[in-house]
Amino acid sequence: MPGYLIWLNARLYEMKRLLKDTGSIYVHVDWHAAHYVKVELDKIFGSDNFGNEIVWSYRTGGISKQWFPRKHDNLFLYFRNEESHFFKPLRGGEFRTLGMNYDEHGKPYKSTKKGRLYFNEEGPSITDVWEIPFLSTVSDERIGYPTQKPEALREKVIEASSRDGDVVADFFSGGGTTPAVAQRLNRRWIACDQSRIAVAVTADRIARVVENKIGKLFPVPDFTVEHWGIYESPKMEKLSERDFREFVVTAFGGKPESISRNIHGMRHGVPLYVGEPSRGTRITKEDVAKFAQAIFKERHTNFGAMLAWNFAPDARKAAEILAARENKRIDFVRLNLVRLEDDAYREHVVTKQKDYGELISFIQPPEVRITSERIGKLKYRFDVSESVSLNKDGVIANVQWDFDYLGRFSSTEGYAFLRDKKRGRPVLIVEYEFPSPGKKKIACSVQDDHGGERTQVMKVEVR
Ligand SMILES: C[S@@+](CC[C@H](N)C(=O)[O-])C[C@H]1O[C@@H](n2cnc3c(N)ncnc32)[C@H](O)[C@@H]1O
Repeated sequence: MPGYLIWLNARLYEMKRLLKDTGSIYVHVDWHAAHYVKVELDKIFGSDNFGNEIVWSYRTGGISKQWFPRKHDNLFLYFRNEESHFFKPLRGGEFRTLGMNYDEHGKPYKSTKKGRLYFNEEGPSITDVWEIPFLSTVSDERIGYPTQKPEALREKVIEASSRDGDVVADFFSGGGTTPAVAQRLNRRWIACDQSRIAVAVTADRIARVVENKIGKLFPVPDFTVEHWGIYESPKMEKLSERDFREFVVTAFGGKPESISRNIHGMRHGVPLYVGEPSRGTRITKEDVAKFAQAIFKERHTNFGAMLAWNFAPDARKAAEILAARENKRIDFVRLNLVRLEDDAYREHVVTKQKDYGELISFIQPPEVRITSERIGKLKYRFDVSESVSLNKDGVIANVQWDFDYLGRFSSTEGYAFLRDKKRGRPVLIVEYEFPSPGKKKIACSVQDDHGGERTQVMKVEVR
């Protein structure tokens, strides 16, 4: 428990930092940790900012003979600022008061000696005890992600504590219930999860929410997926010149400079020059001359370093001449991309920065191999069991299918999170009946348990 609380504490502090003055936080826990977590929340947010301990009461199978069945979770509500927080009281459900009647318009009232006493038509105020059924195994809402929560639960949270257009964040978003509901209720949202499967399932779910609203012809839900801590080398070339230079200078241990056109950073008093992001470019003798002039004029020094992917032969020659004739020393540092998945690189980084071990994933996308077989009229069997994870000890953890691929992956209903019933393992062979014959584009997205993911598109002539 102490380790867990330290882990949680660090994250709660960050969440508090991100929260607006009008914002609220709901922390969903169960009896294992609820009492400890509330104390932490008191410390972090201040006990004055406590709003509610909401009890989510549900009924699931399994009862103990030794104690009352444990059938509730707790949601702790805290405000960033108790004086300025936003809160909209909610109403709904049935009045449970004895003697409640309904008039000819369906309005609730009670008969008293003085006549009818009317009650609010929208139902009673929702209190801090929420009776919401647990998602049943056959629920339409169910996507199969373990720990998935009912949408009705997240709906109350979002409706009570945010307005249209506000930002709702779930930093442990699992199957994506919070962002899906937020999207439906016209809120903006941020969803994070350490599991690549959770991210894939969430992205897919949001695409479906948007499709249901505006149709599959416009599959453009306005969100991006970022895999932080997982870096793809080709993306570096796409950085802007300024971002690339800043990145290289910082990685080299220097401080970026933006004032001078020809000096891009300083390291221990030595001016630095960084070439262009594209790996096809190289430093020329003109670049060397410009840099040599700049360091002399602007920094009154004869020593500088140039960092770039490549150096043209005439650039080297120019540096030699400068050294010989003018006593100016320009060092060349060649940038090199080392494969992140390389064990040697991982060791290099982790020995320098122990904490990075947990932060950086050195992953490769899986090798996806699909075969298809016609098994009947419009009916096909697809098999990805020959696919392999390319990460050490990695195994394929999930497969999603889009049988009507339109350029943006959005899984066909029922094909986002398939598990075999006996062992709960991912299903690698699926069958699908197409609604019509003709040329079809299908896509298959395969994720491994290390966070590797690859989407493969294939064409099928359906008959
Ligand atoms: C209980 S589920 C989340 C349920 C979700 N909030 C909902 O409303 O349906 C917890 C999630 O936290 C994720 N998780 C666990 N440790 C994490 C970490 N350190 N950073 C990000 N996500 C993490 C797990 O992958 C899992 O999907």
